[in-house]
Amino acid sequence: MTCPSPLADLPIGVFDSGVGGLSVFMALRRHLPRESLLYLGDMARLPYGTKGAHTVARYAEQAADILVQRGIKMLVVACNTASAVALDRLAERFSGLAVVGVIAPGAAAAAAASQNRHIAIIATEGTVRGGAYERALAALDPKLTVTSLACQLFVALAEEGWNQDPIAEQVALRYLAPLFPPLQVRDKSPPHRVPTPDCLVLGCTHFPFLLPAIRKVIGAQISVIDSGEATAVFIARWLAQHKLGRSQNRPAHLHFMSTDTPERFARLAQAFAVPDISVADIELVNL
Ligand code: DGL
Repeated sequence: MTCPSPLADLPIGVFDSGVGGLSVFMALRRHLPRESLLYLGDMARLPYGTKGAHTVARYAEQAADILVQRGIKMLVVACNTASAVALDRLAERFSGLAVVGVIAPGAAAAAAASQNRHIAIIATEGTVRGGAYERALAALDPKLTVTSLACQLFVALAEEGWNQDPIAEQVALRYLAPLFPPLQVRDKSPPHRVPTPDCLVLGCTHFPFLLPAIRKVIGAQISVIDSGEATAVFIARWLAQHKLGRSQNRPAHLHFMSTDTPERFARLAQAFAVPDISVADIELVNL
């Protein structure tokens, strides 16, 4: 019998610009309920999606430093914007630590799901501008047609807790109706036209919280890929392969950090992901 690695019982570190990464946190809880998780929301500097690549990369390094200093066995960049611009830098900075982003698993899941080979990506301005999904998808299948659309306002709606509000549906309609016309129109489009995408990637970790509003526009037929869910599946497999799954039987330890007022983080985390979280459970950290 081989002894478990001393790393195995350390938590997985997860960060995002805000509460969006909680969609990845939830997927990790579903797939790996025994794993301890250390979450950092960089609420003070949100949004990342409207900022330049250099700024986001610097923020990502600072967020990752805090998590690594606490002792983690894996770093999960639960933010597409940061994954797009900082993943290689982080992997270099923390060589020896597994650093996982959300773009490659999301792209792989989309390439596997699309039948008509037209995939739509919705993401932040920064992720769309950088073209990281296009590159990841082209590497998997150069024949894929990829249409990317920045939906930055979805981030603000999620951070405001307005993901279930009628205004979320109006915003979803405004962004998505041109790409996903009503079904009657889709059926009538001439055969030589590029077909309506049959797969939509939620290329921002805030967007799964708006899925009900998004579904109202795109309908039930389109495959939706949650990059966080795809990442959690990848991580579960990776930990098993590397024998780094937590060995302790005690309940998983969950710890939360925010770079801005814990009250706001607690309110949103309660609504989205962790109903029993309280302000006292959130550590305020300074970056
Ligand atoms: N949740 C993040 C992402 O996946 C970033 C949102 C933002 O801060 O603009 O891209």
